[in-house]
Amino acid sequence: MSKIIVAESAGFCFGVNRAINILYKLIDEKKPACTLGPIIHNMQMVNELREKGVRTIDKISEAKENETIVIRSHGVPQSIVDEINERHLDYIDATCPFVSKIHKIVSETDDDSIVIIAGDKNHPEVQGIMGHCKSKCYTFKNQEELQELFSIIPQKNYKTIKIVAQTTFDLKEWEKSLKSLKNVYTNTKIFDTICNATSIRQREAANISKSVDLMFVIGDKHSSNSFKLYSICSSNCENTFFIETADELPLEMVKKADSIGVTAGASTPARIIKEVLDKMSEVNTSSVNENELSFEEML
Ligand code: F3S
Repeated sequence: MSKIIVAESAGFCFGVNRAINILYKLIDEKKPACTLGPIIHNMQMVNELREKGVRTIDKISEAKENETIVIRSHGVPQSIVDEINERHLDYIDATCPFVSKIHKIVSETDDDSIVIIAGDKNHPEVQGIMGHCKSKCYTFKNQEELQELFSIIPQKNYKTIKIVAQTTFDLKEWEKSLKSLKNVYTNTKIFDTICNATSIRQREAANISKSVDLMFVIGDKHSSNSFKLYSICSSNCENTFFIETADELPLEMVKKADSIGVTAGASTPARIIKEVLDKMSEVNTSSVNENELSFEEML
C-alpha cells in the first residue's frame, strides 16, 4: 500500500490568503477591481480571477477611474502609493503585515545610516522594500554578491548598517551571511525578517523529502518560494518533480511508488493541490493520504 504524505504547510500562507480574500470580497460586492502585477505567482489563479473580471495592470496609469487597485502581498515602493493618491484613485493595500513591518524598519533611517537587504533585487518584494528606504540601500542574494558589497561599503562612513531580509530568503544563506557581516562591520543592526511560514514550510518539505521515494512540489514556475522548495527537496530525494498542475504528474512513477511526498508554494491554491491528490489516488488506488484530515481543513 502506498503512502502519500502531504505537508501541512502546503499552499497559501497568511499574507496571500488575506490578499485573495480582499479580492474575492470586491468580486462579491460587484466592485470593479484590478491588481498591480499578478496578485500571486500562480497563472491558474490569475486566470480564474480574470474570468471574474479582475484585471492585472502593469502601471498605475492603466487603472480605470471606477476600479479599486489592490496592492498585492509583496507590497510596493512608496512612490507607487504616492502616484495612486496623486491620481485620486481608489486602492486597498493588501501588503502582508510582515512585509509592511520591513517597510517601517527601513524607512526609519537617516543620512548617516545605510540599509542592506538580503534578497533578490529583481523580486517585487525587494523592490518594494528598497522603495521605502530613507537612506542608501544595497542588496545581495548570495555570498558572491555579499563579498562585492564588502568592497564598496566602508563601515566607517556610516553610523548604523541596518540589515533586513526578504521574507522568503533562504534561512541557511541568511545565517551564513550574518556571520560574515558581523565580522566585517561592527555597527550593524540586524532584523530577522524572514517569515516563519517560509521556514516552517522549508523545514517540513526537507523532512518529508528525506523519507519518501517520490516527491512533488506544486507551484508556478515563476514562484521563487516554490522553486526554493524544489531545490531543498531535490537535494534529499532524487525523484523530485516541480509541477504546476495535475496534468504534469508522471503517472507511471506515481503508480509504482511506495511513498510519495507533496508540498506546495505559498501561492498555490488548495484547489490545485486537491486536483493533484485526486489524480494520484486515481492511478494509485491503494494509497493512504497521511495528512488527509488537515488538508481537508485547508480547503
Ligand atoms: Fe506574508 Fe510570510 Fe506569506 S511574509 S505573504 S505570510 S510568506
